Amino acid sequence: MSVAFHELKVSSVIRETPECSSFELSVPTELQAAYRYKAGQHLTFELPWDDFKVNRCYSLASCPDLGETLKIAVKRVAGGRVSNWMNDNLKAGDLIRASVPEGRFVLDPETRAGAPLFLFAGGSGITPVIALLKSALTKTKRSVALLYANQDRSSVIYNEEIDRIAAEHPDRVLVRHHLDSEGGYLRPDEIRALLHHTDIAEFYICGPEPFMELIEQTLDEAGVHDELVYIERFVSPADPDRVEADAIDVASLEAPEAFSLWLNGRSRTVPYLAGKTLLQCAQAAGLQPAHSCESGYCGSCMAHVNTGKVHMRTHEALSERDIARGVALLCQSIPASSEPLELDSDSTSFRAASAVKSSYSKRASQLAAVAVFAFMLAGTLILRLVH
Ligand SMILES: Cc1cc2nc3c(=O)[nH]c(=O)nc-3n(C[C@H](O)[C@H](O)[C@H](O)COP(=O)(O)OP(=O)(O)OC[C@H]3O[C@@H](n4cnc5c(N)ncnc54)[C@H](O)[C@@H]3O)c2cc1C
Ligand code: FES
Repeated sequence: MSVAFHELKVSSVIRETPECSSFELSVPTELQAAYRYKAGQHLTFELPWDDFKVNRCYSLASCPDLGETLKIAVKRVAGGRVSNWMNDNLKAGDLIRASVPEGRFVLDPETRAGAPLFLFAGGSGITPVIALLKSALTKTKRSVALLYANQDRSSVIYNEEIDRIAAEHPDRVLVRHHLDSEGGYLRPDEIRALLHHTDIAEFYICGPEPFMELIEQTLDEAGVHDELVYIERFVSPADPDRVEADAIDVASLEAPEAFSLWLNGRSRTVPYLAGKTLLQCAQAAGLQPAHSCESGYCGSCMAHVNTGKVHMRTHEALSERDIARGVALLCQSIPASSEPLELDSDSTSFRAASAVKSSYSKRASQLAAVAVFAFMLAGTLILRLVH
């Protein structure tokens, strides 16, 4: 792990529901700058477990734009290690090792003020979503619709806070709760009923896999472009005692001598170092593509495979839909054929706010270059005709 970890003190524990607790964390003065974050980002926690360590990410429910104390919410997962340990054992005054904030599930600062924001949260997926809601209301003039699905009334996390926010912004916020206990699982028509301005709005989704699949599918059918959809997947990395052997013999895979990587609007040639991941190769070449867990579960290192083939050792952070679209995790990928390999870390197809913009600007600058060239060519032809 190349991400910095520090010890933070748990300043308070708030029982939100029978299954979920919030933990407020205090950051020592000398680390305040390192822990500056954007709404929607998460911390990775490192805990001792038997004779090894385990890592888990938890999103920040607090809003940096309101100066709120750093706060995470952890919901129990049946049979889960860390979520149950934290709910049962972590108490005020304890120290816990946490990474600096990371993540791309953030608002796009360049989105036009008029573009509506649609937030879809299921269960503990409300954690980054409520931070986005508060941030959007504080820093933008955008209207926000929140669809929040839960099993029943007792499992709604941050219920009172959401009610208060909705009451404070009646002209900008629309909140729809869905409770499985009252009407069965969420249906596509409930999602469609909310939608408007689907060509310019942005859509953030976080929750259990079937919930996210339903929203993604419904947005897709409604014609929403991938670039407008942002997704956060709540998955755990494989703990050291749960790591499975790679299904294929990676030594048998062919590889090109170098690959191309689009990063921050420029294409770079990166020598391929046998046995290393594409992320490690890029780092060895002096590049710094976004990354965090380096274990395939946070999604920070997503890139689009434009040409060539890669093999991913693991890819928890991706859905089958992502993989079908050509998205790969640099930290888990090695080349899988000798054909030319080009990847795009700026790609729009995995909905990273800053990357979307840099890709737009890359395309815009390519178009501008073509336009300037055409203009000069036309000018030369006219001059020749005149003379
Ligand atoms: C970016 C990000 C943000 C997140 N934010 C939040 C948040 O705000 N709030 C929140 O509650 N969660 C969040 N999560 C999810 C969180 O990180 C954990 O995945 C979750 O708490 C479950 O961890 P656990 O240790 O309790 O369960 P795990 O021990 O990881 O187990 C998960 C499931 O796998 C099963 N399992 C059992 N044995 C095995 C085995 N051998 N191999 C694999 N699986 C096994 C367990 O029974 C359980 O059902 C986030 C995840 C990510 C990636
Ligand atoms: S760095 Fe987390 S998935 Fe690659």
